[in-house]
Amino acid sequence: MITKEIKLNFKEYSSIDELEAADKALAKSAIDAMKGSYAPYSHFNVGAAVRLSGGITVQGANQENAAFPSGLCAERTAMFAASATYPGKDMESIAIAGGVYGRLTQAPATPCGACRQVMAQYQTKSGKPMSVIMVGAERIWKFDRVDDILPLIFDSI
Ligand code: THU
Repeated sequence: MITKEIKLNFKEYSSIDELEAADKALAKSAIDAMKGSYAPYSHFNVGAAVRLSGGITVQGANQENAAFPSGLCAERTAMFAASATYPGKDMESIAIAGGVYGRLTQAPATPCGACRQVMAQYQTKSGKPMSVIMVGAERIWKFDRVDDILPLIFDSI
């Protein structure tokens, strides 16, 4: 038996102003996308913004439903809209922002497991790394590839 270790790297910023221009614009777009959230049950408003090859940005926001599982997270809303509208484009990056009653959390809101799995699929589809930017008011985290938030991505079929 040998013990193995998985290491992952990410960058922490204290303000979106520290991000490079394209990432800063995407982070702002994710915050802006929170306006589209429909969250009458949790009151946790999440926005996401996907940057596609060619520079197009597609926004999404969480959509809740009285039949709870029928709702959808912001990240998947954005990715599915992007894929359905621009099927030939690669997803280069996704930014996420959220907060109760529209007030951005201090620490970054992190994507759920199902959203990470969907990110992984579109990253595999494009064959290039997709970066993930999690935006909080006090801290911003940037992961250069989905593998860094979902190690051992299922890739067996
Ligand atoms: N939510 C997202 O939109 N993205 C995530 O990654 C985690 C959770 C939404 C789902 C639900 O509308 C609300 O946040 C509370 O869970």
